[in-house]
Amino acid sequence: EDEKAQYKARIKQLLIEKDAVLVAHYYTDPEIQALAEETGGYVADSLEMARFGRDHSAKTLIIAGVKFMGETAKILTPNKTVLMPTLEATCSLDLGCPVEEFSAFCDQHPDHTVVVYANTSAAVKARADWVVTSAIALDIVEHLDSEDKPIIWGPDRHLGSYIEKQTGAEMLMWQGACIVHDEFKAKALKDMKAVYPDAAVLVHPESPANIVELADAVGSTSQLIKAAQTLPNKQLIVATDRGIFYKMQQACPDKEMIEAPTAGSGATCKSCAHCPWMAMNGLQAIESALLDATGHEVFVDPELAKQAMIPLDRMLQFAA
Ligand code: 13P
Ligand code: SF4
Repeated sequence: EDEKAQYKARIKQLLIEKDAVLVAHYYTDPEIQALAEETGGYVADSLEMARFGRDHSAKTLIIAGVKFMGETAKILTPNKTVLMPTLEATCSLDLGCPVEEFSAFCDQHPDHTVVVYANTSAAVKARADWVVTSAIALDIVEHLDSEDKPIIWGPDRHLGSYIEKQTGAEMLMWQGACIVHDEFKAKALKDMKAVYPDAAVLVHPESPANIVELADAVGSTSQLIKAAQTLPNKQLIVATDRGIFYKMQQACPDKEMIEAPTAGSGATCKSCAHCPWMAMNGLQAIESALLDATGHEVFVDPELAKQAMIPLDRMLQFAA
């Protein structure tokens, strides 16, 4: 604990010295989220992280999250220095959607509007017409569908199926998945609901359809926190990364949060209810990024960035 306090004190000092601001995702560890809050930074979902970084006056952004979030920040603010605690923090959706193959898939359907999830590389975004995050995916697809545009969707198949069901849009789908949300199990969730009959079930739409079916509220991280506040239930079963409990508990201190069941437990399942890449954002890594940017700075090829900026900006304009 003492050591942690020392790290935090040094990081606070460095943030001031380097004119830097810490932006953290809800899935990072609670102490990282707390540090962002205590230092005038921000804790948010991926859409809000992008907006906050773009609009903040600091010279340097330190993005505690995964690679695509750092890349998005760099694309939106090419003149800022964008640092990450580790550049190794990636995402199974990004890994499962290599640009060459995705691009070839798009080439086969040139009449389709290409909609990609924010959890993708800059190169995949550059190939897209629209970028969406889970907070805004439904609205954007609804808008495109109302114009009768045929859609290619990538890479998260569960989120894609959920959107198809909600909007009635038909989408050609890339078959990616999030290793964290893919682990929630319907049978065990039904059993848990029987144990807590008064609990509401909150589900992130990266979860499989049979989990979404059991939900009282489905939404992005920020939408789930709102639902936790709005629903009258005192107990909440939550099917998303447990990192979210920090802000959810803050938003509703009198409610009890229960982790939705997964196939394995910590020892056997490295991705059960906590993203292993989000977990890489530790105090030591943050300090090291602030001390020396080498190996921590995010670079995006300027040509790619220019291309990727178009669908990203479209999303932000739509969200505004
Ligand atoms: P949102 O914060 O946009 O809901 O994203 C979820 C996610 O999996 C990010 O890793
Ligand atoms: Fe990717 Fe899933 Fe981790 Fe989010 S939680 S970064 S979608 S692997």
